[in-house]
Amino acid sequence: MPTCWSASPSPACTPSACSGVAATPTTGWASSSRSSSPRSPPSPSPSWATCSASASTSGSPPRLAAFELADTTESPSPLRLGGIMVDGEVKYSIDIPYLGSLIAMNSPDKPVPGLDTIPEEDHPPVNMTHLAFQTMVGIGTLLAAAVVLFWVQRRRGRDLLEKRWFLRFAAVAGPLAVIALEAGWIATEVGRQPWIVYDVMRTTDAVGDYTASLWWLLGISTVVYTGMTVGAVVVLRSMARRWREGAVDLPSPYAPATAEGQR
Ligand code: HEM
Repeated sequence: MPTCWSASPSPACTPSACSGVAATPTTGWASSSRSSSPRSPPSPSPSWATCSASASTSGSPPRLAAFELADTTESPSPLRLGGIMVDGEVKYSIDIPYLGSLIAMNSPDKPVPGLDTIPEEDHPPVNMTHLAFQTMVGIGTLLAAAVVLFWVQRRRGRDLLEKRWFLRFAAVAGPLAVIALEAGWIATEVGRQPWIVYDVMRTTDAVGDYTASLWWLLGISTVVYTGMTVGAVVVLRSMARRWREGAVDLPSPYAPATAEGQR
């Protein structure tokens, strides 16, 4: 299958056909994509869709390859659990055959285009992108599984809210969701490097000289959010203490039940 992002595109998959960008015969797609000057954004077209199904899957083939830790183009592609890239080689991963193709390309044997099809200067930081993506998906799957388990048990007449381990897990689920959120953001933002707009403008071309105001913004955000975090912890701890002491002026459906079964 022709790939639009390969260093030497096939005639069936010319630069202009794949990206919607007019290219002169002397301007290869790869070289034009590495140009440092901004150009008009690629417009989706039938040829775009037929040339690169996976490009439409993630919007960025290098990011997809990094998510999947696809160093080479394997057909079918496995789903890689864990693992890191060391000197261009994948190590320590657990590979589940076919699943990479199935999830990323909606087909059991369509290959996920590997990083070997992409010029090295267009690779994102692969390990950080891959691990952040897997952290997000791992936590998301774990949380969803906990919900399913809860309801299945409930239908069988067992209430997991009576189990200490489940309550502990529920307490940890909040921070886990925040970690998943940050990991999702890292996967997206690191995965699209070195582009700020994929195939249109590089991040280095978009950077301005705002160092001073950035430090101010970071400082103010840190102070505000630290204050809010400390405030939330103080309020929650004080509510917990008053409930424990049996304060009666705290009616709330969320309070722990009293010995009489009231809240
Ligand atoms: C099975 C579970 C999950 C799957 C399959 C999944 C999949 C994805 C995918 C495909 C992307 C877009 C990546 C890209 O193209 O750049 C993404 C981004 C993201 N995900 Fe997840 N995700 C899952 C769970 C979660 C959870 C539990 C959270 C947070 C609680 C989360 C937060 C995010 C965030 C914040 C982004 C970045 C959005 C952006 O900046 O545009 N994800 N996720």
